[in-house]
Amino acid sequence: MFKTIKNSLYVEGVKVEEIAEKFGTPLYLYSQTQMIENFKKFDLAFSFFPHLICYALKANSNLTIAKTLRQEGAGSDIVSGGELYRALLAGFNPKKIVFSGVGKTKDEMRAALKKNILAFNVESLEELKVLNSVAKAMGKKAPIAIRVNPDVDAGTHRHITTGKAENKFGIHKKFIFEAYKTAQSLKNISIQGIQAHIGSQITSTAPFVTLLKTLLNYVDELAKAGIKISHLDVGGGLGICYDNENPPSPQELSKAFIPHLKGRNLTLLFEPGRFLVGNTGILVTKVLYRKKSGTKTFIIVDAAMNDLARPALYDAYHEIVPVASKNGTKKKVDVVGPICESGDYFARNRTLEIPEQNDLLAIKNTGAYGFAMSSQYNSRPRSAEVLVKGKKYSVIRRRENFLDLVCHEQ
Ligand code: LLP
Repeated sequence: MFKTIKNSLYVEGVKVEEIAEKFGTPLYLYSQTQMIENFKKFDLAFSFFPHLICYALKANSNLTIAKTLRQEGAGSDIVSGGELYRALLAGFNPKKIVFSGVGKTKDEMRAALKKNILAFNVESLEELKVLNSVAKAMGKKAPIAIRVNPDVDAGTHRHITTGKAENKFGIHKKFIFEAYKTAQSLKNISIQGIQAHIGSQITSTAPFVTLLKTLLNYVDELAKAGIKISHLDVGGGLGICYDNENPPSPQELSKAFIPHLKGRNLTLLFEPGRFLVGNTGILVTKVLYRKKSGTKTFIIVDAAMNDLARPALYDAYHEIVPVASKNGTKKKVDVVGPICESGDYFARNRTLEIPEQNDLLAIKNTGAYGFAMSSQYNSRPRSAEVLVKGKKYSVIRRRENFLDLVCHEQ
C-alpha cells in the first residue's frame, strides 16, 4: 500500500506529499486497506480451526484503528484499565476481550469483571487469589487462563523476549499444576484457558510450534486431573519484515500448527499486535538541516525519539525513503531528531539519497509501537495521525498543541 510511482511516494491512492502539506509534519500516516488485509490473512489462515484473533491494543490503540479491526471480527488483548476503556469505546464485544499483564489492580479487575470479559490471563498465584476475592465481593466468577512462562528462548531482542524464566511474565512451568489446582479450589474463579506469550518480532515458526506442543501437553495433563481447558492462547509475537528478516506468514504458521490440532476440541486464541498494524504506517518527517561533523554527515529532521522511540530503545531498524525522490547522489548519513540526547536517531551510517532542506522523508513500518510509545519529551506536542483509504483520508488524531502540554498542570 506504500509505493513509489514516478519518484513520488503514495499511500494507497494518495500522494504522501499532498497529505503532509495539508497536515504538517511530523505525521503518522496509515493505510486502512493494509490493516484489513493483514487481519484477513491471519483470519483466513486459521479458518480450519475455531479461533479468535485478539488484537494487542498496545501496538496501536488509536480508536479508529481499533474499530477498523473490530469491524473485521477481531477481539482485543488489553493490559490496563485504560486499554479496557479504549476497547469498549472502540466497540469490542467484552466476550472477545482478554486481559494480560503482571500487575492488574483491583480497580482494573473490577472494571473488567463488570463487563464480563472473556478471560483474565493470570500471571501469579497472588494475582489469582486477589482476583478471586474481588470477584467474590461482586458475586461473580472470574474467567481465567493461566499464563505459562515456558522458559523458552524465542530468539528475539532481549527487551522484547517474554517467555524465559528470567522474564517477569507468567507463572513458571514448574508451578502450573499448583496454579490450576489453586484455581480449581477457589469458588469465584472459573478456569477457561491456558495462555503464553513468548516474545515479539519472532521470525520463525519453531518457537510457536514448541509453545503449542507445550501448552497442548498441559491441556492433556490437566484433563487427567479433571481440569477442562476450553481455549488455548498462544499470545502474539509474529514478526514482520523491517530489514531483511524473513518471518513466516500466518499461512505458514497455520500449516505448522495443523498436525498438532487434529481432533482437538479447543478454541485457539492469538494476540497479534505488530503483524496486524506494523506495516500499515509510516512516519513522515521534514529535513530541517544538514551538517558535517568529522567523518559524519547528519540529516536533522523534525521528528524525534519522542515520536518514534524504537531506534533509541532497541536499536531498531526502520527503512527510510524519500517522499519525492530527486534521484540525487547517495551517501552514508545519520538521520537524527532535534531532542537533546545522542540516542535521538532514526538511522546511523545509512546510505541514503542526500535530501535537501525541507524535503520529506518517510520512516517505514512504524504502524506498531510507533505513536503508541510516543511522548511529549522535550515538550514536543505529539504528531497527528491520518488514516488513508483509497483516495480518501482523514485525521484520526489531531496534532497536539502547546496547551495540550500543560493542560493537566497547576
Ligand atoms: N500479548 C501480550 C501478552 C504481549 O505482551 C504482547 C506484546 C502482545 C500480545 C503483542 O505482541 P506482538 O504481536 O505485537 O509482537 N515495544 C516493543 C514490543 C513490545 C511487545 C510487548 N508485548 C517494540 O517496539 O518492538
